[in-house]
Amino acid sequence: MSETIVTPPVTGMPRLGDRAPGFTAKTTQGDISFPADYEGSWVILFSHPADFTPVCTSEFMTFASMQDEFATLNTKLVGLSVDGLYSHIAWLRTIREKITFRDMTDVEVTFPLIEDITMEIARKYGMIMPGEDSTKAVRAVFVIDPHGIIRTIIYYPLSLGRNFDELRRVVIALQTAEAFHVATPADWRPGDPVIVPQPGSCGAAKERMEGQEAGVTCVDWFFCTKEISADEIDAEIRST
Ligand code: BEZ
Repeated sequence: MSETIVTPPVTGMPRLGDRAPGFTAKTTQGDISFPADYEGSWVILFSHPADFTPVCTSEFMTFASMQDEFATLNTKLVGLSVDGLYSHIAWLRTIREKITFRDMTDVEVTFPLIEDITMEIARKYGMIMPGEDSTKAVRAVFVIDPHGIIRTIIYYPLSLGRNFDELRRVVIALQTAEAFHVATPADWRPGDPVIVPQPGSCGAAKERMEGQEAGVTCVDWFFCTKEISADEIDAEIRST
């Protein structure tokens, strides 16, 4: 019997490893040309469903409170919704003047928030999911590296606020993997052992299994780890 191969539909949505689709846009911080203006920095480009909504408000306050920490990771924040600029400005003013969430109060959002009333950018990035809502962007997160390459994509539905510890962990893990040429296992946190890549030859694998590679511990030929302290990681990827 012949096997049926199902080809997935081409959606045009960007994928991991793709160059971030380019656009120019008006934002609350002036016009931007993306990703060109961000060359040399990591970027978290994220969408939210609508201004003046509670989950989005809690997320913006949290993003704003973490902006300085993301800056130490050479990471800039850029928000987007399909609302217009005047709505964005009024909402951010309301957040600053009236909203307290957890211990955050008087929060000023100084990262750019893109107006996308035509939905052109949201469509380009696959932020509109008609099964969820055809007139709003879902909560999409694109982590883009300093060369403009998409390195992580996370989607959340309208009802679910993002986990900001996870967003921080993703940025740190991507940068750690790159700086130390390693991978990070399930639930990895800085200071936990990292995975070393499989060696290129059987001989090297055997030497590694026999404990001949300094600092590397193997539980099997394909599963070897080494220690990198949180301080070493900070020294490599963070600026103060
Ligand atoms: C909110 O941010 O609260 C929200 C936005 C759109 C739909 C549902 C909730």
